[in-house]
Amino acid sequence: MFVQKISIAEQYIELISPEISHADISLEWVSGKDGRELLEKMGNNLPKDWTPSIEEERDRIIDFIHGENEVNWAIEYQGEIIGAVWLSLEPDKLIGPHIMIADKSVYGRGIATSVMQAVCGWALTDKTGSASRFNHKELITRCRVDNVPIIRVNEKIGFKPTGETYKEDGFTWQNYIMKKAR
Ligand SMILES: CC(C)(COP(=O)(O)OP(=O)(O)OC[C@H]1O[C@@H](n2cnc3c(N)ncnc32)[C@H](O)[C@@H]1OP(=O)(O)O)[C@@H](O)C(=O)NCCC(=O)NCCS
Repeated sequence: MFVQKISIAEQYIELISPEISHADISLEWVSGKDGRELLEKMGNNLPKDWTPSIEEERDRIIDFIHGENEVNWAIEYQGEIIGAVWLSLEPDKLIGPHIMIADKSVYGRGIATSVMQAVCGWALTDKTGSASRFNHKELITRCRVDNVPIIRVNEKIGFKPTGETYKEDGFTWQNYIMKKAR
């Protein structure tokens, strides 16, 4: 589901509602060798013969818009849709945020750091009330231990590694935690 727009005006970033029309864009993101690599970085262990389809992308976006177990945003940067960020809702905690930026030409500009910081801030310290209905006290995220850029982003914004690394779906993972300030 989509709850509210978040603007990071000084960096020309808007976190907006996913739209069905984004399926054409996301199909490009996940196509070819680069697309496969992107999905694997996120921890998707894809079958060798997996190929993306517009139907699958549309279904995924319909879930983003209507699903009750996730809060989703499309990331717009300088007027272009470049990725997505989402939180999964569980009864006592929030999982995420998880982020994917598909346009490699904008890597290293601090976009993920700002987006993750804004979403964590919304989830844990939102004063407007739109996040308060979830009443979360902590965020738990995770990433592959060999995904250096997202580890750096997580640590820059204050996530702390928690527990031992573990293997799942053919990859090795580390969990991270961020607690609400008292
Ligand atoms: C991870 C991702 C979101 C980062 O986006 P981004 O906008 O480039 O991130 P930022 O610019 O905010 O920060 C990246 C940091 O990683 C660092 N970094 C990037 N590649 C690195 C590398 N190979 N080695 C060391 N540090 C690296 C950058 O220098 C920067 O840190 P700094 O600010 O201290 O210099 C983007 O690479 C992505 O979408 N990757 C594919 C999907 C993915 O892995 N998502 C996370 C799934 S859990």
